[in-house]
Amino acid sequence: MLVLGIETSCDETAAAVVKDGDQILSNVIASSIEFHKKYGGIIPEIASRKQLETISQVTEEAIKRAKINLKDLDLISVTRFPGLLGSLLVGISFAKALSYSLKIPLLEVNHLHSHLYSAFLENKEIEFPLIGLVISGGHTCLFYLKDFKRIKLLGETRDDAVGEAFDKVAKILGLGFPGGPAIERLAKKGDSSKIRFKCAELKDSFDFSFSGIKTAVLYTVKSKRLMIKDKEDICASFQEAVVDNLIKKSLDACKKKKTNILVVGGGVAANLYLRERFKKSAREENLKVYFPSLKLCLDNAAMVAGLGYATAKTQNVFW
Ligand code: KG4
Ligand code: ZN
Repeated sequence: MLVLGIETSCDETAAAVVKDGDQILSNVIASSIEFHKKYGGIIPEIASRKQLETISQVTEEAIKRAKINLKDLDLISVTRFPGLLGSLLVGISFAKALSYSLKIPLLEVNHLHSHLYSAFLENKEIEFPLIGLVISGGHTCLFYLKDFKRIKLLGETRDDAVGEAFDKVAKILGLGFPGGPAIERLAKKGDSSKIRFKCAELKDSFDFSFSGIKTAVLYTVKSKRLMIKDKEDICASFQEAVVDNLIKKSLDACKKKKTNILVVGGGVAANLYLRERFKKSAREENLKVYFPSLKLCLDNAAMVAGLGYATAKTQNVFW
């Protein structure tokens, strides 16, 4: 079964063709990030205007690279929510028009759940039930999944998302936007023991909070003249504290729900330090942890097409 995925929840305009839920025939992503950089964050109006300009071309390119014709498609899957409203509107309107003209079904899927599906594109063996951790620029959520139809939210951030905290700390340190990769780069040379940061624990809850640690970084930066070495130490310590917190909550959730399968997705899952730390803890605790490959951590449409396939299967759209 051939599914066209369309993703326009943030700054990317993405289209992909996926066969039978796990064979990626094409995965095209156009980003408008260059137009946002000078503002230090995503400007929704710019994002949706760029998406309007590029969505037809990006979809045509995805069909061409998949070496199929539009009429070969069986289903269209599009990101419904959450995301920037103007951006989502562009993707959904385009997908609706295409499904109407091709006379094929359209499914609307949840963006956060599709981040978790990313790991399924490359790992057929993942078993349910599992704990899913989504760590992106806009969200930090812990889910319990019996399958892709029965998903329960266990906890989420009460303030900043983890990616947002990386971006804001990078801004405080003058490292540019997006901040995650820059912090990871500096942290490699830093010594986390030189200055200690800690995330709020929020006991007896699977919720997260990252605004406190961001403010702690701000006060540290204000308190002295920073040399490059200080910035490296701050990045290392901030990154370590955030990863400690994410690991603790995820492992607690696995224990509570009695599962030894953990799936991590979202842009922050591209952080190599985080991936190594999760893998080490999983080994120690006898858990299996799955990550998407790096190119599938950030927003893409292959995960949307894949989740569309899984949803169609559970809803008996074709079967
Ligand atoms: O999932 P995503 O592409 O978009 C949203 O749905 O939000 O995630 C983007 C976020 C940004 O905040 C970016 O700074 C963060 O992912 N990110 C990283 C890394 N690469 C991207 N954070 C930490 N380390 C990275 N290597
Ligand atoms: Zn995302």
